[in-house]
Amino acid sequence: MDPNRLYSIRMHASAGEKHVSGAERIVSGERIDRTVNALIARAVSKSCKPDRITVNIDCIESVAIRNLTSLDLVTIDAPDATTGRQWAMRFLEETGVSPLAAREAIALLTKGPALSGKTMRGAMILDAEMGNRLEPDRERGVRTSRFDWSDEANKKISRLLSEAGLTHFRTCEALALATKVASAPGIIAELCWSDDPDYTAGYVASRGIGYVRFPYLKEHGNDRGGRAFFVRHLDFDRTAFIRFLEEEPALIADVGTCGTPVAPGDISNLCLNRNSQGSNRTTC
Ligand code: COA
Ligand code: AMP
Repeated sequence: MDPNRLYSIRMHASAGEKHVSGAERIVSGERIDRTVNALIARAVSKSCKPDRITVNIDCIESVAIRNLTSLDLVTIDAPDATTGRQWAMRFLEETGVSPLAAREAIALLTKGPALSGKTMRGAMILDAEMGNRLEPDRERGVRTSRFDWSDEANKKISRLLSEAGLTHFRTCEALALATKVASAPGIIAELCWSDDPDYTAGYVASRGIGYVRFPYLKEHGNDRGGRAFFVRHLDFDRTAFIRFLEEEPALIADVGTCGTPVAPGDISNLCLNRNSQGSNRTTC
């Protein structure tokens, strides 16, 4: 491997049909060994032991890499899933998603959006106006891939998240994933909560509102979750959208802000603050 070139390293671990762990990095050639070892260590550390671990390594053309700035992060301290989902609806509407489409996404993620009624292997694509499904395969969905933080950005975001008390690895990875999604052609917003029964947090994200995190978008113990990518249907190029998410490499080299948590009662202040800083939001 060429030490001067960049490589996308992607790990997926499974036990039978069950997804156990997935993670990825973009690193230079000389760091492949230790990155692969770290990813495998992560896979085998899961309580559900994998019987298969796949690691894919691809060289990336450095000219093709897109540099991104991570979304500004804010936590809305909604105390439970009902309140969290109400506020998630409001924020989705703020980005331009219709109430109909937002309700549809929440209903689908609640029941399990796959054709089989379980969780999907990737994300749904929803028309932001009418809420109809646009992904080619309703079991698989689309998967955002080939993204990572640069070394400097990784250090900085780790420090900011740690200062904000957000030490779970998922927050950093989900923020990176949402940052790439927010740059996709035709995207309006994303809604996510995990299918991990022990992880109740979720988010609404877009370039305009940033990464708006809720500690609870579902109850503890619930194993239903997923992702919805809302798109502007009118001029939507599905092939370009999926190619961007799945294949085009992106490195997050600059870091956005990481704000202190906001109580739901103070959200109008948050909006005013953001508007005065030039965000494209107008109301909340
Ligand atoms: N859930 C379930 N199955 C998955 C999966 C997931 N998240 N990711 C991969 N798989 C399985 C599927 O069976 C898939 O076949 P399919 O394409 O028919 O669904 C198979 O593994 C190969 O997946 P592929 O995406 O082609 O492999 P890859 O090696 O290129 O990338 C991942 C694998 C897991 C690294 C990548 O898909 C991914 O999810 N990257 C983002 C990881 C991340 O940071 N997540 C943050 C969440 S907070
Ligand atoms: P996780 O955040 O890993 O708990 O994943 C939550 C849900 O997001 C999963 O159930 C999938 O439906 C979906 N998902 C998982 N990986 C990806 C990905 N790389 N891109 C888009 N959606 C994903």
